[in-house]
Amino acid sequence: AERTFLAIKPDGVQRGLVGEIIRRFEDKGFTLVGLKFLKVSRELAEQHYDVHRERPFFAGLVDFITSGPVVALVWEGEGVIASARKIIGATNPLSAEPGTIRGDFGVNIGRNLIHGSDAIETAQQEVSLWFKEEELVSWQPTITPWLHE
Ligand code: GTP
Ligand code: MG
Repeated sequence: AERTFLAIKPDGVQRGLVGEIIRRFEDKGFTLVGLKFLKVSRELAEQHYDVHRERPFFAGLVDFITSGPVVALVWEGEGVIASARKIIGATNPLSAEPGTIRGDFGVNIGRNLIHGSDAIETAQQEVSLWFKEEELVSWQPTITPWLHE
């Protein structure tokens, strides 16, 4: 099944939004298959944001993501990658729609609370960058027949 990688960034943790954010993906009907709480190393942060290496905000982004604990998550479900991006909202919280995580809780592009993989290939790369295979749990929620025909 399709999987995506999400990370609640240090601002989301510091603001006490971990439960609220996880709630939104549980409520939607996606399945949690991986979860850990960690202080991100510079090496991991730089690998994760490697596509942005040449951007002017790269150093600040790496400093920020390593500045405090992060909650790393893997969610499973049909269409979860694109749907999670919608639930998260636009990169700049000021233009993110109300009802999205960034739209409801953020005001600054450098403090946008959560990361979500943007495509199938990046989701696979990010899941394997952040998690070992044995840290992921395949399971079948008992409510499955009430979510899918
Ligand atoms: P992620 O899910 O975190 O990858 O966000 P995104 O996919 O919505 O945006 P993108 O991958 O383009 O940028 C990665 C992160 O870099 C963003 O989440 C922002 O925190 C940060 N970022 C992007 N553009 C800017 C910018 O112009 N200025 C600053 N300060 N940060 C930026
Ligand atoms: Mg991105």
